[in-house]
Amino acid sequence: MVDYEKLKQDINRKLGIDLTAYKDQQMRRRINQWVERYELKSYNGLVDTLDKDLEHREKFTNYLTINTSNFFRDTKVFDVIEGKVLPEISQRNRPRIWSAGASIGAEIYSITILMNEARAASSLLLATDLDETALEKAKAGVYLPNQIVGTPPKYLDKYFTKTSKGNYIIDESIKKQVVFKQHDLLRDAYERNFDLILCRNVFIYFTSETQKRLITSFVQSLKPSGFFIVGSAEQIMDPASYGLQRVSYCIYKKTV
Ligand SMILES: C[S@@+](CC[C@H](N)C(=O)[O-])C[C@H]1O[C@@H](n2cnc3c(N)ncnc32)[C@H](O)[C@@H]1O
Repeated sequence: MVDYEKLKQDINRKLGIDLTAYKDQQMRRRINQWVERYELKSYNGLVDTLDKDLEHREKFTNYLTINTSNFFRDTKVFDVIEGKVLPEISQRNRPRIWSAGASIGAEIYSITILMNEARAASSLLLATDLDETALEKAKAGVYLPNQIVGTPPKYLDKYFTKTSKGNYIIDESIKKQVVFKQHDLLRDAYERNFDLILCRNVFIYFTSETQKRLITSFVQSLKPSGFFIVGSAEQIMDPASYGLQRVSYCIYKKTV
């Protein structure tokens, strides 16, 4: 087996994913499982297959980036977003909202539905991800039943159409409000002046140094008093050291 360090370089060159910023143990375990599942025998076998088989390359990229997401994921957090965060930022002048690591778009569409319900106008609803396949799915807006489980039935009726195959299509009126862009949180510059940034279930996969660097960049991208929302496994240890104050479960506010 070529060693893992060499594999990381190959993956960076071939897929543009910088695994040095991700937790080694976790990623290595996932990659080993993949090598076993497809009987590739070694990292060399994996690299050869990535070179030869475009479909395998695409599947492996999806697997590495872990696209799992669903609408209104974590109701405890969405209740506070609906009851406190969106009303507060909507009192400001047309808020700018960014879902970073947006995957298939379920998170930003959930926010867009809530903004719509509150009749609140935004000046930007941005959703970014490293993975272009996930972004294509987001733009297509077609969801499996397990991806809409958390959606309140009244929104399901109002904003989705059920297909004959039992999938759910998000309404065009919601879809057209969101701007999707490919963006690598590790390499690309961050846009600024956001009232709300959500980066949930993304940086658990990164090393703690990388997490710190990313949180610092997100805080720079927030307006004063802007909100930053993380996933349930990503609570920030010392929020004050980043200029943040914890306001609720998973929810932080920029103090300056
Ligand atoms: C588990 S999904 C989270 C989706 C959504 N935020 C949620 O909580 O339901 C993680 C997403 O992070 C993206 N991701 C991983 N590394 C990234 C990076 N370096 N830059 C941008 N997105 C990244 C993956 O492609 C994946 O779509």
